[in-house]
Amino acid sequence: PSLLFPLYSSSYLHQTSSDHILKDASPFPSDFLFGTASSAYQYEGAYLTDGKGLDNWDVFTHENPGKIADGNNGDVAVDQYHRFLEDIQSMKYLGVNSYRFSISWSRVLPKGRFGGVNHMGIKYYNNLIDALITNGIKPFVTLSHFDFPQIFENQFKSWLSPEMQNEFGYLADTCFKYFGDRVQHWITINEPNIQIGFGYISGMYPPSRCSMPYGHCTQGNSETEPFIVAHNMILAHAKAVQIYHTKYQKEQKGTIGIAVQTTWFEPISDSIADKKATERAQSFNFNWILDPIVYGKYPEEMVNILGSALPQFSSSEVKTLMNYKPDFLGINYYSSYFIQDCLITACTSGAGASKVEGYVLKLIQKGNVSIGEPTDINWLHNYPEGFRKMLNYLKDRYPNVPMFITENGLGDLQKPETTVKDLLHDTKRIRYVSGHLDALRSAMRDGANVKGYFVWSLLDNFEWSYGYTLRFGLFHVDFTTLKRTPKQSASWYKNFIEQHLNTG
Ligand code: NOJ
Repeated sequence: PSLLFPLYSSSYLHQTSSDHILKDASPFPSDFLFGTASSAYQYEGAYLTDGKGLDNWDVFTHENPGKIADGNNGDVAVDQYHRFLEDIQSMKYLGVNSYRFSISWSRVLPKGRFGGVNHMGIKYYNNLIDALITNGIKPFVTLSHFDFPQIFENQFKSWLSPEMQNEFGYLADTCFKYFGDRVQHWITINEPNIQIGFGYISGMYPPSRCSMPYGHCTQGNSETEPFIVAHNMILAHAKAVQIYHTKYQKEQKGTIGIAVQTTWFEPISDSIADKKATERAQSFNFNWILDPIVYGKYPEEMVNILGSALPQFSSSEVKTLMNYKPDFLGINYYSSYFIQDCLITACTSGAGASKVEGYVLKLIQKGNVSIGEPTDINWLHNYPEGFRKMLNYLKDRYPNVPMFITENGLGDLQKPETTVKDLLHDTKRIRYVSGHLDALRSAMRDGANVKGYFVWSLLDNFEWSYGYTLRFGLFHVDFTTLKRTPKQSASWYKNFIEQHLNTG
């Protein structure tokens, strides 16, 4: 029972059916990190407080409320800026030993590298980091999680310009300098592949560029933009690794990696065409980012299809990539898809029926058979087996690179008839998380070198295009009062960590 959360003592939190218990009860390695994940724009609020500048998401949500399901924005979000001490108590309740959060770029460098550091922003992160450490929770810090100063967009089109590599290098250097004495885990960029997909292919995120008629796009602006953006992000990542490895790592002794969105793909049939299409789907989704940072080159499937639309790394860039490899890969995994070929057998419609996506169609259903258990959201099916296969695939393709599961979790859609009681009684989330932890345990037994696992997310929060209508939290947030209440899954995760964390 806890004074903070009287609900903990109520009986519903203690109903655990047997399928919620892990099949393998053996402890995880003693240095294994269990945590929850978050990001600045989705959590902090305080969007103009203490010298923070406007970022791309501030401007996008204010100018285009129609692109957000509830017309809302992150101006207040869950106000973690003012409530982080309370949120750390929630983490303590869970028993996690790490917290993943991101730096709001426009809070620390409102005008980029020529505009000076905002010391109030630095102070906020110092306070957060210190409070985490005091409570035995390791900060796991993402440098850039979708948001950046709007000024970059206005001045040089942000990620479409190599200038962004220099800006990002400066952000990284600034953060290592001010926070690196206490931060042992750094992530450069969160989900470059998703930022590109939604920002430059389907137009759903800022800067709303379109490569094909899909999502918010009726027609394409440019088929080459996504690849230019990726190129700049990959080189910006390498620059941050270079700065950390050469200037800080010896003294600060931490590690640095990237976080990519991964989706497991299975061919919809046994045909060679569908199997080849599955390889293309992997390449155009995550190998696109991971191959260059581990091997210094783009996947063959991309080179073959895109030809000159795919930028090339100069020899000095290849050298940088090969000299400054990531210390770990951050894996965000949520779901799996069936893949159908659209290159040999032209598909008439669908998101992937184009060059930009490698001529593949991604389907969650094969006839009447869905991949895993459907959830509230069409892109997310509960398929832990796909997670195990994904981790095995990654261990084979990138041997010797340790991995952290930097995100995994389930969202509940807020429908008109949904009650708070329904949201608190989140057995589906427990089934999802426990199933994926089981799959993770199996993958580790298969030989995958995984060093930590973070549930997305600690709290319900601002879920990008869904606004506040899609809730991923282990804790429910009342978005009017901002009151946090543990869901049943919070209690489940607490018990799980108690049983599996090897503190000896
Ligand atoms: C991945 C993103 O990194 C995060 O910001 C988002 O909220 C979750 N996926 C859930 O969609």
